[in-house]
Amino acid sequence: MGFAARHLLGIEDLSREEIEGLLESSRSFKEVLRRDIKKVPAMRGKTVVNLFYEASTRTRTSFEIAGKRLSADVINVSVSTSSVVKGESLLDTARNIEALNPDVIVVRHSSSGAPHFLARSVQCSVVNAGDGSHEHPTQALLDAFTMLEHGKKLEGLKVAIIGDVAHSRVARSNIHLLGKMGAEIRLAGPSTLMPRGVERLPVQIFSCMEDALAEADVVMMLRIQMERQGKGYFPSLREYSRFYGLTSARLALAKEDALVMHPGPMNRGIEISADVADGPRSVIMDQVTNGLAVRMAVLFLVSGGSKE
Ligand code: NCD
Repeated sequence: MGFAARHLLGIEDLSREEIEGLLESSRSFKEVLRRDIKKVPAMRGKTVVNLFYEASTRTRTSFEIAGKRLSADVINVSVSTSSVVKGESLLDTARNIEALNPDVIVVRHSSSGAPHFLARSVQCSVVNAGDGSHEHPTQALLDAFTMLEHGKKLEGLKVAIIGDVAHSRVARSNIHLLGKMGAEIRLAGPSTLMPRGVERLPVQIFSCMEDALAEADVVMMLRIQMERQGKGYFPSLREYSRFYGLTSARLALAKEDALVMHPGPMNRGIEISADVADGPRSVIMDQVTNGLAVRMAVLFLVSGGSKE
């Protein structure tokens, strides 16, 4: 069975089969992106609205290009220039957008659960493009897609996720996805940046980064989410970097063919050194490219498309 749901709100609610269906469909769209003419009529006559309440470069452009490659009309609502600055609520904004009859609303919001709330309030499909520290489902899908594309098998794969796990929706969605697919997940970071209830997740926890890296197949680095934390989670960025920054010396502890991943935006010199970010093991730009194929699949499938 593939993916037939009307919304994509998170990975937590998906079955293994639905995840496989989304990845399979992403592979077909990746093939479209390799053609000379990279556009298909799959969503002709449909409208996608990008409603972003938080900063974004990759995710917003990726959803926009994905919609356009599917021949949908794509409208970007940038909150800083919308009536939200005049005090309009999320629900009122969404209802007004819905009155214009779109097929999909892609939403990014600083509050966990905002896309779920929208999905209950509007008739069209809702796709979560990141809600607070909660989930970022398309990021986890594009990460899995990238691992598979580089010849990794998710079952039994040793994935080290390092850094600010507590505030990272990317980490949370990846933990759900990789856990469902049978990967071995290792988390490392300062104990103050481990999420509450972490012991209930299907993960191993390390306070020492080196231990988490030993023989890892994939090293996924996370950005420190300064915007979601107060002071006092760690003494200083310099100290953080000394203990949890990915350098080439540390990367040597992982498997020889380990992949280096980062969802972006990167803080070079803090969680990852420039030579590793740009080095031969880095698949960070592939993640961005694959995001397009994954978002094409997601937009197409939630809007009711069946693949010819
Ligand atoms: C991430 C996000 O916004 O959650 N970025 C992204 O979408 N690629 C990660 C981050 O902000 O650190």
